[in-house]
Amino acid sequence: MARAFQIRTYGCQMNAHDSEKVANLLHHAGLARAESEAEADLVVVNTCSIREKAEHRLYTDLGLLRLWKAERPGRLIGVGGCVAQQEGDSLLRRYPQVDFAFGTHNLRWVPEMVAAAERGQREARFDDDLSLARFDLPERHGDFRSATPGRAWLTVMEGCDLFCSFCVVPSTRGREISRPAVSILEEARALGESGVRELTLLGQTVNAYGRHDVRRERTAAAGTMAFGDLLAALAQIPGIARLRYTSPHPVFFDDALVRAHAELPQLCPHVHLPVQSGSDRMLAAMRRRYSVREYLAIVAALRRARPDIAITTDVIVGHPGETRADFEATLALVREVGFVDSFSFKYSPRPGTASAELPDAVAADESQARLAELQELQRELTYAAHRARVGTRTAVLVEGASRRGTAGPGGIPLQGRDPQHRVVNFRAPAAEAPALGSLIEIAIVEATPHSMIGSLELEPAAARAARAVDPEARPAA
Ligand code: 5AD
Ligand code: SF4
Repeated sequence: MARAFQIRTYGCQMNAHDSEKVANLLHHAGLARAESEAEADLVVVNTCSIREKAEHRLYTDLGLLRLWKAERPGRLIGVGGCVAQQEGDSLLRRYPQVDFAFGTHNLRWVPEMVAAAERGQREARFDDDLSLARFDLPERHGDFRSATPGRAWLTVMEGCDLFCSFCVVPSTRGREISRPAVSILEEARALGESGVRELTLLGQTVNAYGRHDVRRERTAAAGTMAFGDLLAALAQIPGIARLRYTSPHPVFFDDALVRAHAELPQLCPHVHLPVQSGSDRMLAAMRRRYSVREYLAIVAALRRARPDIAITTDVIVGHPGETRADFEATLALVREVGFVDSFSFKYSPRPGTASAELPDAVAADESQARLAELQELQRELTYAAHRARVGTRTAVLVEGASRRGTAGPGGIPLQGRDPQHRVVNFRAPAAEAPALGSLIEIAIVEATPHSMIGSLELEPAAARAARAVDPEARPAA
């Protein structure tokens, strides 16, 4: 009997949240999380296929897991996520060690597939592309623990209908589907009651939420609403001090969403807005549906609405046809916007995408050199953004132990995130360490290229005194 499970997750936050959903379902089915793989009876691999390298991880894992499975009879292997969706039933045919496989809309069948596998039946489920049933998942089980207390992800829509020419997502995540607002709000309320302070709304193009229904004037029938209205409704929920969303697409960035940043104090001053390239020629080749000018107009509007907003982005270098001049246009845009951070990638051809058929591939060493140049520029911009914050105070949601260093003078090393989503490292005396998941006020005293260093010592005396006597009376955002 499979009693203890482990989940290996690759890829984006959507995948990480899907792994949480699978873990929760397995708890409801009576399984428990295994401390280690040696203890586990079941390993689920939640795969990513956004770039070739991510996809290959599955095949490496399957080789190792075949040995893991042979060590003890009854061990089971399940494969889900984007590679599973892409490969379908063939995974079971090609890899005899795999007991079950499931697509990105079929998480809810995992417990049944585990039970079938225990009876020796190998199953694959890849149906329900257009069904809302995927959102009908049970509430968090008492034994389910999310990785970060105080923070939670909340799915509002799935899928993508845009078909950017480089992107495999429309074929692995299917068509755009927006979840009815009542079920989003219900889940948010439950999370607020359980102590969650910060919600991150998730969707492949999250600000496309409800757009098909709004366009067809059928929001009432579908139970959705405009994205800006959804944010306003979520901001009313008791306990929720911070709202974030990821990732928005520039074409759906309307005035209402910009206004929400001015009007909703809970909406964090951070937007991760993927730009992909700073060259209009490349944006057209990528089928991004906006120009550099339009992108800059959104940035300007956001800054007017919320002057302290941090803008971060995704960039692809070396897309087919990208010339040195196109790449320099990207560098110029990155400098002009002054992104606080960016994720940049070498273009990786994906099966079935339009870009994979294009001529004029950029040589691998040239792409590598462009990536390094872009990342060097970003390092400077990030460091500058951190330095500009020194001497200010900020609210930090305490996440856990700091990755930087061990206990020492000043207490235990902790880390958290500020409203701009930057990592802040600080130390707290063991006797009055803030609870994980709580919001505290911190003074930024030092900048590093990767994070900021804060001090609790400079916390207002009254708040500090209150915290010393009453652990609940922590300074809030
Ligand atoms: N090659 C490289 N990067 C890609 N991304 C998406 N598809 C590809 C690809 N084929 C990047 C984009 C996207 C991020 C999640 O991954 O920048 O915003
Ligand atoms: Fe991929 Fe473009 Fe859809 Fe984003 S918007 S998921 S990049 S197709």
